[in-house]
Amino acid sequence: MSSPGQYVVSIDQGTTSTRAMVFDRAGTVVASEQLEHEQIFPRAGWVEHDAVEIWRNTRRVAAAALAAVEILPGNIVACGITNQRETTVVWDRATGEPVYNAIVWQDTRTDAICQELAEDGGVDRYRKRTGLPLAAYFAGPKVRWILDNVDGARERAERGELAFGTIDSWLAWNMTGGPNGGLHVTDVTNASRTLLMDLSTLQWDPEICAEIGVPMSMLPEIRSSSGVIAPLRKEGALPGVPLAGILGDQQAAMFGQACLEPGEAKNTYGTGNFLLLNTGTEPVYSEHGLLTTVCYRLDGEDARYALEGSIAVTGSLVQWLRDNLGLISDAREVETLAKQADDNGGVYFVPAFSGLFAPRWRADARGVIVGLTRFANRNHIARAVLEATAYQTREVIEAMEADSGVTLHTLKVDGGMVLNELLMQFQSDILSVPVVRPVVNETTALGAAYAAGLAVGYWESTDDIRANWAQGGRWDPSMPDADRAALFAGWNKAVEHSFDLA
Ligand code: G3P
Repeated sequence: MSSPGQYVVSIDQGTTSTRAMVFDRAGTVVASEQLEHEQIFPRAGWVEHDAVEIWRNTRRVAAAALAAVEILPGNIVACGITNQRETTVVWDRATGEPVYNAIVWQDTRTDAICQELAEDGGVDRYRKRTGLPLAAYFAGPKVRWILDNVDGARERAERGELAFGTIDSWLAWNMTGGPNGGLHVTDVTNASRTLLMDLSTLQWDPEICAEIGVPMSMLPEIRSSSGVIAPLRKEGALPGVPLAGILGDQQAAMFGQACLEPGEAKNTYGTGNFLLLNTGTEPVYSEHGLLTTVCYRLDGEDARYALEGSIAVTGSLVQWLRDNLGLISDAREVETLAKQADDNGGVYFVPAFSGLFAPRWRADARGVIVGLTRFANRNHIARAVLEATAYQTREVIEAMEADSGVTLHTLKVDGGMVLNELLMQFQSDILSVPVVRPVVNETTALGAAYAAGLAVGYWESTDDIRANWAQGGRWDPSMPDADRAALFAGWNKAVEHSFDLA
C-alpha cells in the first residue's frame, strides 16, 4: 500500500518527442516535461533519429519533471518505459555508441529486403509464427539493413560485439548501466514487433533470425511488461528507483485505457493511429490485414494478445502541412482552417507517405491529393487532412470486426488529435458510433506507469486501473447515412489513385 508522497515516473519516448511524467495513485498527472528531437530525412522514404539525442533528452526530461514539483527520487517507487515501437538501434556493447542512426518505424528503405524474403513463401511467410506480414515497418529487416550497409558491422555482430534493441532496450541499457551499459532487455510487446519473436513461445525464433540475417547474440533478453527489472543507475535522475515496466506505446495505451479484458479496444491518435483490440490469452490471426501482437504480460501470468490496425500517417500529416508546406504555423490551426469549409469540397488526401499500412499493406502506395478544382482552397485541404484520419480508422475497424466478430458499440480514443473537436465529431459520424475519451488523455505514459506501479504493489491489481478510468469527452453520430456512404465511397476511390507510385 502506498503512503502519501509516493509517485511513479513514466518515460514516454515517442516518434517526435520524449516525455517524463509523474503520476499519483489516482492516475493524475503530477508533473510532465517534454523535449522534441530531430527528424532526419536523408532521402525520400528514409526516416532516422539520433539515438544519443534521445538518450540525452530522456535524462533531461526525467530530471526536469522531478525538479518542477520538487519531488525527490526517494519518493518515486517505480519507473516505467514506453516507446515508439519497431524503431531500431544497433550499438557497440563496449562503448555504448550506436553504429548508425536509429532507423524509424516509418522508414521504407527495407522494402527490397522484404520483397526478397517474400520470394520464398510470400509476404505471410512468418505470419503464423510472428503475427506479422513481411513489411518494412518491423525491426528485423532494419537490423539486417544496418549489418549489410555499415562497414564491418556484420563481422562485429558475429563476434558478439554489437547489440540490437528497440528504443525501450536502448533506454533500459543506458538507464540501468554504468559507462559501459547495463542490462540488455526488452519486453514481450516490443519483441513482438521485430518479426523475430515466436508469438506462442515468446522467445526469439532461431530459424527466422537466420533467414532474415540477424545474429542471435545481438538480441536482448525478453521480459514481462510488468515486473521488477533492475534499479536505475546511481548517477542518473532516478538513482536506485526500480525499472519495473516496459511496454510499446500502443500496448501501454491499452493499459492506460483499462482495455484489459477480451473485446476491449482503443484507438490512439499520435503521429500514426493504432487501434488495438484485446483478444485474451490466445492469439487471433487476421484475414483482413491486421497484425497479431502481444498486448501485455504481467509477471508470472500468461501473455494477453491483441489484434492491431496500424495506420502510418495521421497526426504526422498535420505536421507535414506545417513543416513541409507551411500552410499552418501551429498544428492546432488545422482545425481553424477546416472549420471554415462546409465540407471537403470533393478533395481527398491519401497520406501514403510510408506506403499504406493496415488493412491494405501496399508498399507501392504514395501520397496523393485528388478531387481538386479551382473551387478548392486551403480550408478544403485542411479538412481533407483531418478526414483522412477518420476514413483510415473506419477501414481498420471494419477489418477488426470482420476478423474478431466483435462489433464496436463505442470507440475509446486518446492521443494528441482527440483534442480536435471537428475530427472527433467527424470520426463518430463516419463510423456511426459514439466516440469517448478519458479524463487523463496521456494514456500511453499512464499505462507504463501502471505496469511499473503494479509490479511494486503501488497499485494492487488491475481493478485499481479500471477504477481510475473516467470519461472526459463524448461525441455522438449525427450524419445522415447517405452522406456517410458517399464520403466513404469517395475515399475508397481516392485510395485507388495512390497505388503503384513507389
Ligand atoms: O508502431 C509505431 C508506434 O509505436 C509509434 O507511436 O505514438 O510515437 O506515433 P507514436
